[in-house]
Amino acid sequence: MDSSDQTTAPPRPLRPRTPYEALGGGETIQRIVNRFYDLMDGETQYAALRAMHAADLAPMRRSLAGWLSAWAGGPRDWFEENPGKCMMSAHRGLGVQREVAGQWADAMARAIAEVGPADRDMGKLMAERLDMMANAMAATPE
Ligand code: HEM
Repeated sequence: MDSSDQTTAPPRPLRPRTPYEALGGGETIQRIVNRFYDLMDGETQYAALRAMHAADLAPMRRSLAGWLSAWAGGPRDWFEENPGKCMMSAHRGLGVQREVAGQWADAMARAIAEVGPADRDMGKLMAERLDMMANAMAATPE
């Protein structure tokens, strides 16, 4: 081995960037969630979805942002505060209808596009995956 090799700092291990980082972190996710609930609260096309939720959306603004952050590979606080809680199972008893699942996915896609995450392709992927998840909630009624 050449002596110069020993003076070279070892390469730092490569860690893939998480979707959370690509989107712009917790601040961006909270802005997406806030826009999502503002749309749900303010536009009549989401009235059926709004009617399923409690009057006060503040707890949901916190909870959904926490869940999305953990889901995207960010801080896992939500999972630690809700051990073993599965989002699909949590929605099973709500009687999610296909049309209302579409409202959820539509408002979320708009919120993501309007906030414009740092990595826009990752934002599109996020919207696509959440659309699939919302539709799966409707497809698996109790
Ligand atoms: C991928 C899609 C979805 C995600 C990630 C998601 C996420 C969440 C989260 C994190 C909560 C809070 C749970 C808690 O804090 O215990 C929640 C509650 C709720 N979700 Fe969803 N949700 C999705 C789709 C939907 C859909 C499609 C509907 C209705 C059509 C819906 C209706 C509700 C309702 C009614 C609540 C309870 C809200 C309240 O108590 O005010 N969700 N959801």
